[in-house]
This record gives sequence, structure tokens and C-alpha cells, in this order.
Amino acid sequence: MSKTAFGIDIGGSGIKGAPVDLRTGELAADRLRIPTPQPSVPDAVADTVAQLISSFDIDEDMPVGVTFPAIIQHGVAKSAANVDDSWIGTDVDALLTERTGHDVFVVNDADAAGIAEVAFGAGRDVPGVVILTTLGTGVGSALFIDGELVPNTELGHVLLHDMDAEKYMAESIRDREGLDWETWAGRLQEYYAHIEFLFSPDLFIVGGGISKQHKKFLPLLDLKTPIVPAKTRNEAGIIGAAALARAEAKKSAKARKKKAAKKL
Ligand code: BGC
Repeated sequence: MSKTAFGIDIGGSGIKGAPVDLRTGELAADRLRIPTPQPSVPDAVADTVAQLISSFDIDEDMPVGVTFPAIIQHGVAKSAANVDDSWIGTDVDALLTERTGHDVFVVNDADAAGIAEVAFGAGRDVPGVVILTTLGTGVGSALFIDGELVPNTELGHVLLHDMDAEKYMAESIRDREGLDWETWAGRLQEYYAHIEFLFSPDLFIVGGGISKQHKKFLPLLDLKTPIVPAKTRNEAGIIGAAALARAEAKKSAKARKKKAAKKL
């Protein structure tokens, strides 16, 4: 099986994709970004994903991984905190597989970023409990135990001051309320101290676009757990989705072989 898979990151404003070399975790070609259609309903987004893939000259059998900013259970979207409600109940996996002609695997966006960080970034070879959070429009989370993902943890929705935590401390809230770094870091402190109390992690990794500016807020936090910025940054979703797609495609190929061997 080839060492390359295609990764696509579906976000609120852009859909980005590129082939990824999974020996190094680097993009194998420049990524392409197409604005997310508005309203971002399933049909329109599926067309954009198909358009994005067809802009690259890739083999038909190349597995494609796609991130989505919602709970994804067995390919089906189960929530819609920051996307159109019409996604709830949509089999995103089946829709995109049918529309693109590729074997598509869908994964929560923060889980994908976590997969990238554990494979190629700050979480590589870190034993124990690792929690990655993404600070963006919402707050996503990925929980790992000895490198194994526990999917769909949704730790952005724990309660802080009787509200959804992400409505209090997401990057979008810092931006909307014009919070200075100290004030925002104060909110992050409350959030991470709460998560630390609940999970006793060995490492926190902070992703999302704002992690580029980690020097402005991470040193202001006072936690028992080490907290570090993600290394894969902007490409984390693409890389993680591609890594997942390859691993899943390998698993299905193995299962098919086993079935065929049983028939003989
Ligand atoms: C969603 C998560 C998502 C996160 C980051 C949250 O509002 O519930 O599924 O991972 O935003 O996009």
C-alpha cells in the first residue's frame, strides 16, 4: 500500500486539502483551499470536497481522510455546535464516498489534529494520558492513552460558570470580546485546571491557529501538567485525516483478505 493518503480539513470558512507523505507527515504537494460554501449544508460541502480532490492528480484508490467539526460516530455526524444543523444524522462518510468516488473516512477535527500530533508532533512517543485541545471558533479535544485515541471526547463543552466552556474561552471569544492576553489566559487557566483535575493528564497539547502565538499566553498558565503548542499547526487536520485514512484503509484491506482466505 502506498505511503501517501489525501487529507481534507473542513472548517467554517475554508475547505483545505493536500496529499500527505505519511513517512514524514509532510504535505506531498501544495495544499489547496476553497472557501466553504454558505450555507454550509451537506450537499454543497460534498460538492466542494469533490471539486477539491479532482484538482489533484491522484490515484483512484488513494484513501481520503476528512475532518469535520462535530461528533462523528461510525461516519455519522451526531452534533452541530458550529455547523449547519442539517448535518445531524448525516452519514458524512457515505455521502463523501459516493460523491468523490474515493474511499473516504471521516473524523472529528480535533481528533484528527491529535492523531497528527501523536504521530508526528509534540505527542510522539509520549506514554500515558495526552490531551490535545484546539482553540478556534469552538474548542475541540482529543484524548489519548498510550497513543490510542478515545474518540469524540468533546471537552470544549464541559461547564464553566454554568456555561459551555467554549463559549467562555474559545479563541473566537477572545477575538469577539477583545480580551487582552492576560484576561484570556485567566479564562484558559480556569479551563485547563478543571480538565487537569478531571483527567490528571501527562501532557496538554494546544492546537488551533492561535497556537502560533503560544508565547503570549502559555507562559501565563500555572498548571501541574506540562502544556506545549502543537507542532503540526495549520496542517494538523490534513495530516491527521490522511494518517487515519491510511490506517483505516489498511484495516479494511486486511479484513477483506481474511474473508477471502476463509472462502478458499
Ligand atoms: C465541536 C467539536 C469540534 C470543536 C472544534 C466544537 O464546538 O463540538 O466537535 O471538535 O468545536 O471545531
